[in-house]
Amino acid sequence: MQQIQTVKTIAEVRKQIKEWRQQGLSIGFVPTMGYLHEGHGSLMEKAKEECDRVVASIFVNPMQFGANEDLDCYPRDLEADTRLCESIGVDLIFHPEVEEMYAEGFCSFVDMDGLTQELCGKSRPTHFRGVCTVVSKLFHIVMPDKAYFGQKDAQQLAVIRRMVKDLDMDIQIVGCPIIREEDGLAKSSRNTYLNPEERKAALILSQTIRLGEKLVGEGMRETKTLVEAMKENLSTEPLARIDYVEAVSMDSMQKVEKLEGEILVAMAVYIGKTRLIDNFMIRV
Ligand code: PAJ
Repeated sequence: MQQIQTVKTIAEVRKQIKEWRQQGLSIGFVPTMGYLHEGHGSLMEKAKEECDRVVASIFVNPMQFGANEDLDCYPRDLEADTRLCESIGVDLIFHPEVEEMYAEGFCSFVDMDGLTQELCGKSRPTHFRGVCTVVSKLFHIVMPDKAYFGQKDAQQLAVIRRMVKDLDMDIQIVGCPIIREEDGLAKSSRNTYLNPEERKAALILSQTIRLGEKLVGEGMRETKTLVEAMKENLSTEPLARIDYVEAVSMDSMQKVEKLEGEILVAMAVYIGKTRLIDNFMIRV
C-alpha cells in the first residue's frame, strides 16, 4: 500500500494529479468537511473500488454556514481522519486553510435557482451557494473522473448532479446509500453535539423514516396523508422540533401531491439545538 499524502496547497494537488494523469490512472474524489465516520468511509471505499487513485478533501467550508450556524464549533480531528483514510487506502488528502481556498478579494460564486430554494434551502438560504461554489472549486483543482456523494444529503446530491449537467463538467457523480448506526440513526459528524438524552430522542428520525417507508410500501400514495402521519410520529418526541417534512420530485426538488415516479421524502428536525436530517427515496 502506498503511503497516504496530506497536502495543504492547490499547487501540490495539481502536481500529484498531473503525475497520475501522465501514468494514465483514473481518479476518484470524495469531498468532506472531516470528522470522518463510516458514512464518509463508505464513499471512499466505493471510490477505491472504482478508481486507480482516490483523493479526499477535508475542508470545513465557511461559505456554506449561515451566520447563526455551527461553523466555529464544527468538530475537527485531522489525526483520526487521516487514520480512517489510510485504513481505506485513500492516496491523497487535500486539507487546505481557508485562505488557500478563498484568497483575498474572492468574489466569484456558483449559484442555482429552484432546487436550492426548497427543503434545507428554506431555513439555510445561502447554504447551497456555498456548497456549489466550493465543490466546483474542488472539482477544478482535483479534476476527478468520478466524485462520490452520500444520499444522506439527498438535496445536495441532486444540486451537484444538476450543477455538473448545467455547467458541462466532465465528472461522473456517484450517489451512495445512507450509512446508519446500529440503532438506525443516520451517521453524521453533527451527532457528536447530542447529549445522551438527545441521542436517544434522535432515534425518532429514523423511526419516522421507517414508518414512512412502511406506509408507502402498504400503498399510501397521497403526500398529505404521508407527511401528516410522519409529523404526528415526530411530535411524540418532546425534544424534537420539526423544521420540515416534505415529499418532492427527485430531480426538481419541487413538492408533489401524489407519490409517483422518483420521489424523495426528506425531513429536518431539531433535537435540542442540533439540526438533523434524514430521508428515503421512493420509486413507484
Ligand atoms: P460532509 O457533511 O462532511 O459530508 C461529506 C460526504 O459524506 C457527503 O457527500 C455526505 O452526503 C456524505 N455522508 C455523510 N454522512 C453520511 C452517511 N451517514 N451515509 C452516507 N454518506 C454520508 O457534505 C459535505 O460534507 C459538504 O457539504 C461538502 C460536499 C464537502 C462541501 O463542503
